[in-house]
Amino acid sequence: MGDGLRAGIAGTGFIGAVHARSARLAGAELAGVAASTPARSAEAAAALGAGRGYDSAAALVEAADIDVVHICTPNHLHAPLAEAALRAGKHVVCEKPLALDAAEAQSLVRAAEASGRRAAVPFVYRYYPTLREARERVRAGRAGDLRLLHGTYLQDWLLSAEDDNWRVDEELGGASRAFADIGSHWCDLAEFASGHRIVRLAARTMTALPERRRAAPGGATFEAGDSAGASRAVATEDAAVVQFETDLGAIGSVVVSQVSPGRKNRLWLELDGADEALVFDQERPETLWCGRRDAATIIPRDPAGLSPASARVTSLPAGHPEGYAQCFDAFVADFYAAIATGEEPDGLPGFADGLRAAQITDAVLASARDRSWVEVGAVALEGAAR
Ligand SMILES: NC(=O)c1ccc[n+]([C@@H]2O[C@H](COP(=O)([O-])OP(=O)(O)OC[C@H]3O[C@@H](n4cnc5c(N)ncnc54)[C@H](O)[C@@H]3O)[C@@H](O)[C@H]2O)c1
Repeated sequence: MGDGLRAGIAGTGFIGAVHARSARLAGAELAGVAASTPARSAEAAAALGAGRGYDSAAALVEAADIDVVHICTPNHLHAPLAEAALRAGKHVVCEKPLALDAAEAQSLVRAAEASGRRAAVPFVYRYYPTLREARERVRAGRAGDLRLLHGTYLQDWLLSAEDDNWRVDEELGGASRAFADIGSHWCDLAEFASGHRIVRLAARTMTALPERRRAAPGGATFEAGDSAGASRAVATEDAAVVQFETDLGAIGSVVVSQVSPGRKNRLWLELDGADEALVFDQERPETLWCGRRDAATIIPRDPAGLSPASARVTSLPAGHPEGYAQCFDAFVADFYAAIATGEEPDGLPGFADGLRAAQITDAVLASARDRSWVEVGAVALEGAAR
């Protein structure tokens, strides 16, 4: 797979370390890392066992001894770093959100196409075998025509005014916080599993905490805060509720929140078809709930019983639980295989999927602002025309 590839990781926080592990498992050499300062880069290189720490992310993405760049920095740096990496001839994995709006994401899609290099966005929840099994049941017609797509993505790590993170600041995270950060994952998964496209939507956003205490720089993601800094106004949303229609005639809704007590990473998706309903619960990913009128059954992640398309992304025998880390491993392995073979693995999320998420996010913000139904994509077209 990744044998002979030299990987570089820009941004070495929570997800940068996950990328580093998966890159190694897929056979790449972890050639270098870059953090926010040269000293932090050196520390991160030692901690992750990388070949070297680069003085800056800009230096890493252009380095001659890097073949594939993983961009794991705060959001505002994604587009400039991805563009520079593609220009320098690198393959690129760029974290979501791919860009701060759809116009910026569109220009990255074009840059990736023009470069001839591979480009991916880690919508890694696609790599749960049970989620793929739901997709296969829909594709095979076993669920019948889908009528309702619904669910939630709930977290609590930004619950109090003492919780702070760079994501709260729109200059660093973008104009949308909760929706761009996790609602984008839910929409990607709903569209991927159902085969439907969200074509229009009506959204409301809520900022439950209009002021937060500013944390010292470098605070960790997902840790309870004890920020004691000065209060600052918050412009990004803590939660969003979105109602939508799809191109294939279904309706649906999703509730997205970073302020739901006790919920850690509750991505929950239900597809209700004419013949069966399918439920995927990210915190219980070893099983898929399948409801039919006469009985509801629990389908286990058992490679022996899964369809070939789902079994392809699983690595352990039944009864030996897999989770988030294995999704990342399977995603990175697929990406490196695509680089090596030039082929297109089933369900590998690319920059076009990052653009899609940006279009939906733009529509959510426009709808919440105007309190109206919005066509997905219309906002991006206006933006591109400017
Ligand atoms: N795909 C997923 O499932 C998933 C999960 C978590 C995070 N993410 C995405 O990954 C990105 C990082 O999130 P995180 O949770 O790891 O955040 P984090 O705060 O834990 O890590 C960000 C890192 O970037 C570093 N950084 C800041 N400025 C930098 C610069 N100029 N150059 C290089 N490094 C710099 C910080 O020092 C920090 O180590 C975000 O865009 C987020 O949306 C994706």
